[in-house]
Amino acid sequence: MHSAAALKIEDATTFPIPAGVYAETVVSVKHYTDRLFSFRITRPQAFRFRSGEFVMIGLPNAEKPVFRAYSIASPSWDEEVEFFSIKVPDGPLTSELQKIVPGDTVLMRQKSTGTLVLDALTPAKRVFMISTGTGIAPFASLIRDPETYDKFDQVILTHTCRDRAELVYGEELCAEAVNDPLIGEMAAGRLILYSTTTREVTPRMGRITHLIESGKFCTDLGIPPLNPTSDRVMICGSMSMLKDVKSLVESLGFTEGSNNKPADFVVERAFVG
Ligand code: A2P
Repeated sequence: MHSAAALKIEDATTFPIPAGVYAETVVSVKHYTDRLFSFRITRPQAFRFRSGEFVMIGLPNAEKPVFRAYSIASPSWDEEVEFFSIKVPDGPLTSELQKIVPGDTVLMRQKSTGTLVLDALTPAKRVFMISTGTGIAPFASLIRDPETYDKFDQVILTHTCRDRAELVYGEELCAEAVNDPLIGEMAAGRLILYSTTTREVTPRMGRITHLIESGKFCTDLGIPPLNPTSDRVMICGSMSMLKDVKSLVESLGFTEGSNNKPADFVVERAFVG
C-alpha cells in the first residue's frame, strides 16, 4: 500500500509524472480557518495563463492522481502560482492537499482555461467582481492585473462568507494590492472591497443578492443602481450563488459574455473537492 500523504518529488519515483503535467514545489502555505487555506508553488517558465483562468491541480500520490480545477489566484506577472482552497475532510484531493508543506510537490496540468476573463467583457466604467467563499480566487488574480485598471475606472470586489475569519484572505489581498509596487498606484482609490458575513454577526451582514436587491449595496457605496450601460459583472461562487446572481443581473438587463462574444457579465463555478 502506498501512503496517500503528499510526497516530495524524489520520493515519488514509483509514480511517474503524467504527460502534460508540471511537477512544482510548494513555496508557502497559509491556513486561514479549519476550512480555508492558500498556497504558492513555483511557476514553470513556460506556464502562461490569462488572469481569472483555472488549471487542474493534483498530488503525486497515486498512479492516476486525482485532479481538481483551481482558479489561479496570482496575477499573470507573478513569479509563483497561488491558489486559495477549501478543505473538505473527505474530499478526494483537498483531504490530502491541506497537509502540504513547503518543499512538497504539487502537480499542475499545463493548460489553463476559463470564462472569467477580461476578454469576455466589453469595456465600461465599473466592474463588479462578485464572490462567495473560495470564489474570490480568480479575482485575486484579476485585481492584481494592470489590464483590469486599463479597462475599468472602478473595480468593486464583493466577498461574502459565513464568518469574519473567512474574509481575512480578501482583506489582506486588497490591502497588499494597494501597496504593491506594480499595481498599487493603479489600484489606490479605484479598488473597493465590499465584504459581508451571513452567519457571524458583523457590522455588514447579508447575502450579496439580498444586498443588491434591497438597494443597500449601491447606497453603501454611493453609486447608482447596477446597469449594463456603465457596469460589468463577474461572478464566482457555489452553484446556487451563481444561479441567483446570474438571474439577478439578467433581470437588470445584463447579457452574458464569452471569449468569442464579449458582453456584460461572466460566470464561473468555484470548484470544491
Ligand atoms: P449563507 O450562510 O446564507 O448560506 P459556503 O461557505 O456554504 O460556500 O457559503 C459561502 C457564502 O455564500 C455564505 O455566506 C453563504 O450564505 C453564501 N451563499 C450561499 N448560497 C448563496 C446564494 N444562493 N446566493 C448568495 N449567497 C449565497
